[in-house]
Amino acid sequence: MSREQLYRRIDQAEEGEWESLKQLAERSPWRQKFHIQPEAGLLNDPNGFSFFEGEYHLFYQWFPLGTGHGMKYWYHTSSSDLVHWRNRGIGIAPGGPFDSHGAFSGSAIEKDGKLYLMYTGNTRSRGWIRHPFQCMAVMEPDGVITKLEQPVILKVPRGYTDHFRDPKVWKADGSYYCVIGAQRLDMTGGAVMFRSPDLSQWHFAGEIETSLKSFGYMWECPDYFELDGTGILLFSPQGVSPQGDRFRNIYQSGYLTGSPMDLSSREFQHGEFKELDCGFDFYAPQTTQAPDGRRLLTAWMGLPEIEYPTDDQGWAHCLTLPREISLQDGRLIQRPVREFVKLRGVKTEVRTVVNDESLSIAELAGDAYELLVEIRDEGADRFGIEFRAGGLEKTVIYYDRLDGTLVLDRSLSGQSFALKYGTERKCPLELQDGALTLHLFVDISSVEVFVNDGEATFTARIFPERESTGITFFAEGGRVAFDALKWDTH
Ligand code: FRU
Repeated sequence: MSREQLYRRIDQAEEGEWESLKQLAERSPWRQKFHIQPEAGLLNDPNGFSFFEGEYHLFYQWFPLGTGHGMKYWYHTSSSDLVHWRNRGIGIAPGGPFDSHGAFSGSAIEKDGKLYLMYTGNTRSRGWIRHPFQCMAVMEPDGVITKLEQPVILKVPRGYTDHFRDPKVWKADGSYYCVIGAQRLDMTGGAVMFRSPDLSQWHFAGEIETSLKSFGYMWECPDYFELDGTGILLFSPQGVSPQGDRFRNIYQSGYLTGSPMDLSSREFQHGEFKELDCGFDFYAPQTTQAPDGRRLLTAWMGLPEIEYPTDDQGWAHCLTLPREISLQDGRLIQRPVREFVKLRGVKTEVRTVVNDESLSIAELAGDAYELLVEIRDEGADRFGIEFRAGGLEKTVIYYDRLDGTLVLDRSLSGQSFALKYGTERKCPLELQDGALTLHLFVDISSVEVFVNDGEATFTARIFPERESTGITFFAEGGRVAFDALKWDTH
């Protein structure tokens, strides 16, 4: 698409264009069953994740008229249970003087019975120079959203470039704070903080003082929160080079943990940067707090600047399942939200021992399901599960005991893409008494694996044939016991 075509609003579409894009998307063989996905067009970051007026609200970045990164909207979805989501239509439409080229990412917070949506208004000059504004929109209890006429932050503070976006708001000690992703003038990434008494007057406080002075060229989508007395800064750095098995995706998403940030000095003492997910397709996560205190996280199950197999089918991308996060020994643990049991349909149970062989388990076949497998290694060198298998296709998750790594291999998963970034992802893992639990959520064109009850996760898009539904348990060089429970999702 040309720049002119990409930067059109939906009301500037040609007659019938949107309808035919929707029809094209409907015919796609890779439409998901239980993930949030756009009716048509491109989805990216989750935005404005919140609980308001008895419901969860989750918006996402959306370009309606194609699968490129064009004029971004906020699309609105809501849910009473984090499992069944209702499409609510456009949340924030771009096109005003301060968001002429997109309503970019941001977050939500409740105040005085209204939900405030703070986002980055993206503008471009005639010479295509970017200028970001931090804008606000307000949602009433009836769901009507109105944009404020003036931005709440007009200027990029001195010392930063126009890559300045993605405000994440929270409240502490009677004040409001936000973190914003930034690029310093020396082309390194960082996160800055603003403070406000009322969500309308914002004062630049300064940069969040981390020890990462030169860690990529831009930090997107920062998020700061505290869990059990620990401070956590999430962000998605761009420009970090691969290191062994780490940082293999085009851009990363991860976190720092430390003692709670001192909000007046913004000093944050923290440990090393850890990736949130070991898989291929995970970016720009955002968290919120549920009314019962749980910290929930969801992310874009995709990455920028990569072509995906549905790009010519009228739609692109989905969000991950919402996850509950907690802390264990300085690491974030991620589990699928407990409400997901609601999706469990027909249950199948299989217990088997595999001894230096591959065993295809016909009862477990499927294309959209939850599969919980408790594995006990009794001396094999390598063992694991092949799923979405058929013909020459299979996606494989296996443990390599000699290497001490868990591996997700999508080299034969179906239609290939992003090959430049490799077809395997590895995560170091030590087994206790040979035990390994793999909890898979397989949808039509994705998999999310929760390892050992959330110790690690692998998130990936896969694009197999419809008929590739097989499941095989295998072990090489020894015996392995598999106890599996599968639920069809409905
Ligand atoms: C991250 C991001 C954000 C930006 C948005 C635009 O994927 O680049 O930094 O606000 O997407 O869609």
